[in-house]
Amino acid sequence: MKKIKIVVVGCGDRACVYANEGVNTLQYMEVVAAVDPNPERLKYMQKNLGVAEAACYSNIEAVLQQGKIADCVINGTMDDLHLATAIPFLQQGYDMLLEKPLTSNAEDLLFLKKTADENGCKLMTCHVLRYAPFYYRIKEVINSGEIGDIVNIDTSERVGATHSSYSYVRGKWKSEKECGSSLLLAKCCHDTDMLCWLNNTTEPEEVSSYAERRHFIPERAPKGAGTRCLVDCPEEIRKNCIYDVQSMYLDNCIMPWYPWQCTGKNYEDVTEEEKLASLKTYNPHGVCIYKAGGDIVDRQVLAVRFKNGSVATHTVVLGAMKPGRSIWITGTKGEIEGNAEDGVFYLRKYSKENSLFQEEKFEFIDKKGETGGHFGGDKALVRDFCNLLQGGEKSISCTSIDDSINGHLLVYAADKSAKECSSVSIQSMMEK
Ligand SMILES: NC(=O)c1ccc[n+]([C@@H]2O[C@H](COP(=O)([O-])OP(=O)(O)OC[C@H]3O[C@@H](n4cnc5c(N)ncnc54)[C@H](O)[C@@H]3O)[C@@H](O)[C@H]2O)c1
Repeated sequence: MKKIKIVVVGCGDRACVYANEGVNTLQYMEVVAAVDPNPERLKYMQKNLGVAEAACYSNIEAVLQQGKIADCVINGTMDDLHLATAIPFLQQGYDMLLEKPLTSNAEDLLFLKKTADENGCKLMTCHVLRYAPFYYRIKEVINSGEIGDIVNIDTSERVGATHSSYSYVRGKWKSEKECGSSLLLAKCCHDTDMLCWLNNTTEPEEVSSYAERRHFIPERAPKGAGTRCLVDCPEEIRKNCIYDVQSMYLDNCIMPWYPWQCTGKNYEDVTEEEKLASLKTYNPHGVCIYKAGGDIVDRQVLAVRFKNGSVATHTVVLGAMKPGRSIWITGTKGEIEGNAEDGVFYLRKYSKENSLFQEEKFEFIDKKGETGGHFGGDKALVRDFCNLLQGGEKSISCTSIDDSINGHLLVYAADKSAKECSSVSIQSMMEK
């Protein structure tokens, strides 16, 4: 089979997950150019993905001026760069795997779609959860008609204390002003996508949402707490603080690709001395969690009405003890209930024998949890992207741009609702 030629734009954590899968595991892909302003990331591409030094660039212009040199782009830049780094490649006819969130507002989203359509490009979003066997199987059960018509979907995302700290309170998504994404957009565009995808015989019509930042605020810091754990926070306070950096970052660093990024080095190369020194001085992860200065909310709930009268809710909270996503779907003939983290869901049907219910258990072995893999979704997404590019049929998970619009609009509308304390129609998000 002819290998798919790719340009990797933004050679960070996510892009490399996909590129490694496509190049090294599946062996369907070949990287013909890599773009990243960080020379360390380009060295990583040379060492791990076989990219020639001469094919490594610090900016996209250097690749664009060569014309179309590959079949597609894997775009793993940060949220606020997606549009600017996607449009010029789409205009040159590149197909693209673009990280979520696609854009931060409806106008940019529709412009992105128009550009992809006008240039005949296949544009897929990295909604990896659709590919996780847990969710994929749920979708199959719904499509089979086993639970009848969907009446209600109730989902929740409990972001564990560590992940909350690494990404959303001390990390690079802590400020909507800085990264362009709200909590809902950065973390839950997967979940709003899930609501729309599972219930895609209809479309979301209206949403109401409440959101607050009340946990990770200076007022909740223990009395006498310092500003940087390892510098000026008393031992007595640190001993009882969940978020003390010694235990959370040095003793048990479960997502090492985040906290050491600010050193400019690949995390595998950062020494223990450098980690410690960074936490004591410039590393944003070294500050007191309550004084980290972010502006995103730490809890949000939304309620959605769909055009066919079905309804859905989603809740997200930061600082959960047991991380995970749960789901409960009620249909006219049955229900589904499960927890992705536990890798188990139940299909329940009414039982005439006992006037209660009978249930079937579905279990999934590949449940890697929030520290990686998205329950197996990352791998399956790359496989499906390759299949699409090679002219294969669209799978039921396929995250084409058309199919990713509603989930994004739902986020924008929910955030507007939370800010304005009123219901917001999805249609209104598309009107200027
Ligand atoms: N699908 C998922 O489940 C999932 C999970 C985590 C993150 N994400 C998304 O993936 C994206 C990337 O996240 P990440 O953690 O891999 O980020 P990252 O910081 O590790 O990677 C981004 C890379 O882009 C590079 N870059 C900066 N400016 C650039 C430019 N102008 N042109 C090209 N490259 C540039 C950076 O140097 C960096 O190496 C984000 O949008 C994030 O929201 C998605």
